[in-house]
Amino acid sequence: MKTLIAANWKMHGNLSWLQKPADFRRLFPAKNTNIDILLCPPAHMLQAMVRACDGQDIAIGAQNCHDQIKGAFTGELSADMIAETGAKYVIIGHSERRAIFGDNDAWVAAKTSAAQKACLKPIVCVGESREEREAGKAEEVVGTQLAGSIPANADGENLVIAYEPVWAIGTGLTPTIEDIATIHDHIRGCLTIRFGNKIASKIQILYGGSVKPENAIEILALKDVAGALIGGAGLEMQSLAAIASEV
Ligand code: 13P
Repeated sequence: MKTLIAANWKMHGNLSWLQKPADFRRLFPAKNTNIDILLCPPAHMLQAMVRACDGQDIAIGAQNCHDQIKGAFTGELSADMIAETGAKYVIIGHSERRAIFGDNDAWVAAKTSAAQKACLKPIVCVGESREEREAGKAEEVVGTQLAGSIPANADGENLVIAYEPVWAIGTGLTPTIEDIATIHDHIRGCLTIRFGNKIASKIQILYGGSVKPENAIEILALKDVAGALIGGAGLEMQSLAAIASEV
């Protein structure tokens, strides 16, 4: 399975950041390896970023989409609109969207289907809060989110899952390596029960939450971790390249 190193820029960056793909390739020149590199910039630079990545073997993704094709949804972008920019991926159900913008499991599932119909690869995010982990409910919460957020048509390659414990995002805290392994194993188990081993074994499961060059080697070495969804450390190409070098 290929490793996906994905940077979620959230609401950071401006058009001067169009330079970053070239900067990344200066630091990490190896192309067409078993590592896929993905940058998810704010929507206003999607199309220009796709152009800036021409020949760089770097994919571009959006950070959200709407579940409808078109309509009176002020401020929203449909999956087709995102696909039209040349982007290939879209992050769906990030914990910030779930917490701030009301994305729930049903909506995440609808957005995921919309993304698939538009030939985008959705990266569906799940993860427990601090209270849920402390109450020993991390596996239960993640299992419920998966069941509600993943549409029935998974074929192994038409979506990616990102496990992002909410309390690890932007805090510098990470679960222990054993805890990451346990949840990823649990996710694989849930997918196997629902879709069967042939499909479940092909689904990439990323880890996200305070990934940085110092901890990437240990996390990415885990059997069921097929990459990372990176926030803060993905804003600087130096640290993103350092993480990619650990694969
Ligand atoms: P940090 O890497 O800054 O913790 O953010 C993770 C994240 O939310 C990626 O989607």
